[in-house]
This record gives sequence, C-alpha cells and structure tokens, in this order.
Amino acid sequence: MLHILAQKRLKSRGFSSGKKRRTTKDTPLAAMMRSGWQVCAGIFVLFTLAVSAWIVLASAEDSIFSDNGLQTAVVVMAITATLCVHWHVSQPTTFKKNGRVTLMLSVILIQLVLIKLSTVIAAKLAPNGGFELIILPFVFAPMVISLMIERQHGTFAVVYSSLYGGMMVPSRSAFLFVIFSILCGFVAIYLTNRVRKRSRLMTAGIFAGLACAILAFAVGQIHLPFLTENEDATWALAGQQAIMAIVVSALTAIVVSGMLPLIEGVFRVTTDVSWIEWADLNHPLLKKMTIEAPGTYHHSLVVATLAETAAEAVGANAVMARVCAYFHDIGKMNKPEYFVENIGDRPNPHDDLTPTMSSLIVMAHVKDGVDLAIKHKLKREMIDVIKEHHGKSLVKYFYHRALEHQQEIRDLVADNKAREEDIPEVKEESFRYSGPLPKSRESAIISLADAVESASRSLKKPTPNKIEELIDEIFKDRLLDGQLDRAQLTFDDLKKIKKSFNTTIRSMMHNRIEYPNLDKDKDKEKDKKASAKEEAAEAASGDNAAEKKAKAVDESAKPAAKKEDSESAKADTKEGGTDEPAKPAKKKGKAGDQSQKILARIKAEEEGTSLVPKSESDTPADPDKRS
Ligand SMILES: [Fe+2]
Ligand SMILES: [Fe+2]
Repeated sequence: MLHILAQKRLKSRGFSSGKKRRTTKDTPLAAMMRSGWQVCAGIFVLFTLAVSAWIVLASAEDSIFSDNGLQTAVVVMAITATLCVHWHVSQPTTFKKNGRVTLMLSVILIQLVLIKLSTVIAAKLAPNGGFELIILPFVFAPMVISLMIERQHGTFAVVYSSLYGGMMVPSRSAFLFVIFSILCGFVAIYLTNRVRKRSRLMTAGIFAGLACAILAFAVGQIHLPFLTENEDATWALAGQQAIMAIVVSALTAIVVSGMLPLIEGVFRVTTDVSWIEWADLNHPLLKKMTIEAPGTYHHSLVVATLAETAAEAVGANAVMARVCAYFHDIGKMNKPEYFVENIGDRPNPHDDLTPTMSSLIVMAHVKDGVDLAIKHKLKREMIDVIKEHHGKSLVKYFYHRALEHQQEIRDLVADNKAREEDIPEVKEESFRYSGPLPKSRESAIISLADAVESASRSLKKPTPNKIEELIDEIFKDRLLDGQLDRAQLTFDDLKKIKKSFNTTIRSMMHNRIEYPNLDKDKDKEKDKKASAKEEAAEAASGDNAAEKKAKAVDESAKPAAKKEDSESAKADTKEGGTDEPAKPAKKKGKAGDQSQKILARIKAEEEGTSLVPKSESDTPADPDKRS
C-alpha cells in the first residue's frame, strides 16, 4: 500500500513513468513445485498407481501377471523404484527437476497406451498373428525423451518402457518384446543426436524400423517361404510385414515431430529444432535492434559466433548459446545512445552525467532486457542469459571516475574551497550489477564471450600475442572476481573455451592482425614492449584492466583538457568495461612534444645553430644525401 502511494507521489512529481517493470519472481510454492522432493515423490507414487492400473486393465489375457493384480502392482513398484534409484544415481541434476520427472513418466505412460492400441490394430490386421511385434511404436518414448531432455535420459525411457510393456503382451512373446523394444529404442536414440531438422527424426524412424524388420527376420517373426515349413508364409506377406515395420516407425517419428511444439509448451522445454527456429534473425526484436541500436546488433552477432563455437568445443548446446547471445543485450534498445557501440560521431551523453547516474543507466539494460524478453515471450533460457550475462561484475570505468571525482572534492576541501559534507560517498556495491551469476554452461560462455568481444574491439594493433594475453586476462579476472563460481564449467572447459575464443577472434581480426616477422625473438620483444605501453591505455582486458586503466586515467586526467576527457569517455562508455580513456591525451602529448621540437629546430636553424637533433623522418634515407 505504502509502495503504491510512494509510486503515485513520484509519478505526480514527474520522477516515475508509473509503469512497472516485468520481472521473473520465484515464489516458495513455485520453487517447491519445481524441485521439491515431496512433489517428486508424489509424481512417482501417482505414476506407479497409474501404470499398475493400466497393466491390470489393458494387458493381454495370457500376460505374465494377468491373473494377479497385486503381483502386478508389486512388480511395477519394484521397476519404478529401480528407475528412481538409477536416475538419481546417474543423472542427479535432472532428477531434481520435477518438470523433467513428470515429462519422463508421462511419456512412458503414453508409450504403454500406444502399445495397447497397436496390439489391437495388429490383431485386427492379422487375427492369426504376424504383426504383433512388428507394428509397435517402440521409438516413441526414446525419441521424445532424447529430444526433450538428453540422450542419456532416452536410455531410461527405452529400458523401463520395455520392462513395463513386457508385462502387457502375452507371456510367450514378452522376452522378444523387450528385445525388439530395446533394439529399436537404442537405434532411435543413436540417430537423434543433435536433431536440428525435423527430417532427421524421419531418418531415425526409418532406420529403427529397418532394424526391427531385420530382427524380425532373424528371430522368425517374419517368415521367408524358403526358410520355413509354414504354408501360410509368402513373399507378399513377408514384404508387407517388413514394410509395415518401417512405416510404423516412420509414422511414429512424424507424430513425435508434430507433437514437439505441444510437449515443449506444456513442459517448458526447448529442443534444438525450436532453437534453430529462434535463430531466425527476422525476429521483431532483432529487426528493431538493427534500426535503433545497430552497434549493439553487430556486437550481439559477434558474441553469438564466439559463444556458439566455444559451446561446440565443450559439448554445450551451441544453437542455444547462439540464440541467447543474439538477445543478450536487447535491454540496450531502451537507451541505445548511452552505449559506446551506438554513439558513433555523436556527443557522448555521459559527459553531462555523474558517474553514479551513468552506471545506473548502463546497468539498467539488464532489467530492461528482462522486461522486454517477458513482454515478447522469449524462452526461459534466454531470460536467464539476459539476467546473468554481467553476473555481479563491477562497472569499473564509472567506479574509477567516481573515485577520481571524490578525490577532486577532497583536494578542494584540503584547499578550503569545498566543505567536508560535499565529498560524495562511493560504494563499490553501487557500481556492481545485481546478478545473478551465470549458472548454465551456455550462460557462462556468453558472459565470457561478451567481455572478450568488448575488449578485443579496443585493440588498436592486434597481434596473436596480444589477443592471447587479453583473453587470458579476462578469464583470470572473471575467476578471481568469483563471477564463474556458479557456472558448471571445469578448468578443462575453460581451457577449451579460451582456445576457441582465440581462434575465432584471430580469424575475425585477420585483416587487422600484425603477424610476427621471421625473427621471432625480436617480434616477441616488440610485442612485450608494445603491450606494456598500450595495455594501461587500451583497457586490453575490457572489464579487467581497471587498475591499469585507472592509472592511465590519472595520468591523462591531469594534463588533458576537459574536451579530451569527454572524447575518451565517449570511446569507453561500455557496460562492464571501458577502453582507452587515456589514449587521446597520450597521443596529443606526443604530438605536442614533436611540434615543440620542430619549432625549436626551426628557431635554431633561423639562428644558425642546430640545438635540436632532426627527427628520423627528416633524415634522408640515402646516406649519400645527408651531407
Ligand atoms: Fe550487456
Ligand atoms: Fe553485450
């Protein structure tokens, strides 16, 4: 109530737009539903009851436990308990996600319903048998789980749906059913790795059907006339059975493909097929970005390339990383002119703002991004990346500017030109993003790619050594600052990501890179000297060279005029990292020295003396002409 009144008062004074920012709130109830063990236990109990009831009702008359409902319930309970332990031990992360548990168990249950339907159809097609193990949709559950969760989880679906299914069919064919189900299921899982096109599902279905037909020939479910004494066996029937096996598997794959959007919507899971659809650059938000924030759009494309390649290198979801990177900075569209990549030749708006205000505007792009993402119904993973891509990192440039400003006021106080209470308070926490830290591997990779891209853009004379050092420093800084504490990345992953970034950046900057001479030692020395000189000014590590940068700012701030400050700030108004604030001042200083020398030389020559040595450019190349 008080909050509403305060909002109204701010609005009436013109300090608030009255609009509420959209956020993703996590209530305790939602958290319990998502990962509470009580809910998980309830789901398993419900599943056990449902499967037991279905097997009792729908199993064949001569199935293994057809005459004993209690026995059926006990066996179903035992199989479910095994699944529970197996999953918990081998995939504990997904076992804690109740959505995934519900998906797995629901799909297994649907598979059991489909098995019953298929046996009824098979009995109608051939009352004397012949299609009973051939036209079963063995690939349904493995395919769905493999696509929706992971291939490892697909194996659970194969094994346990086979065991439950084996209790439904006549006892004489129960063992063969399990063999058929396991073979077709594993073929389907093997071929549904990284499915990025729906047609790939069809291929998987056809091959699984083919495997089913071959096994049917091998175990005598399909009779070849010259190999059997059965008078009913004909080539036509054998052909029909083989074709039916393939057709049923292919049809199941088509059904799975058609059901994907529905299952994704219900269980809030995104498959690679959907990520590919999201990767379309014609999304309204991206189109808007090309017009309103072209610099950010270009930055996002480069981050996407870096993230995708690195994700591929560590076995993370590369398509997801690419898509999430496209959208990670959509929040900048609210105030694009405050971000360095969009400033261009226009005046820097941060010149008229205090460092605190500038940092608030820069940091707001994360919350604005979340708001826009919710409004445009972006995927949960994309919203997570938007929230996490800066973690809790420091906006170093504005933080150091605030410290400088504080020091200036302190100096004025010392000279009795200002009062003690005028000294502004500078808290590091106020210049830090609110987080959270990147959690998923893809999110952490995008966060690193973002920092590397921003910093690499500021490299004036990139060399392979400089690029490598820059990436090393960024990774070191992120680790030491604890920004990767929650990321599910190993040191080996980080090594691979670093290598991938290095290769990608080098290939992107190929035209700009100064490659070493044949004399490697000379080149190394040259590089070291160059980096030592320029690192302080170039903010070679983007977010990471704050201290060096601060020194550079200190050096430049003193001699440089206010105009120079504004020029450098314009080049450096980056979120999370700033670049080369001191460089223009440094260049001007050199140019000033040079002109002083030239003037002195001209004066000396006029006076007939040579007090100042000539510069190299003034010296003729031909030694003969020196005289
Ligand atoms: Fe950002
Ligand atoms: Fe970014």
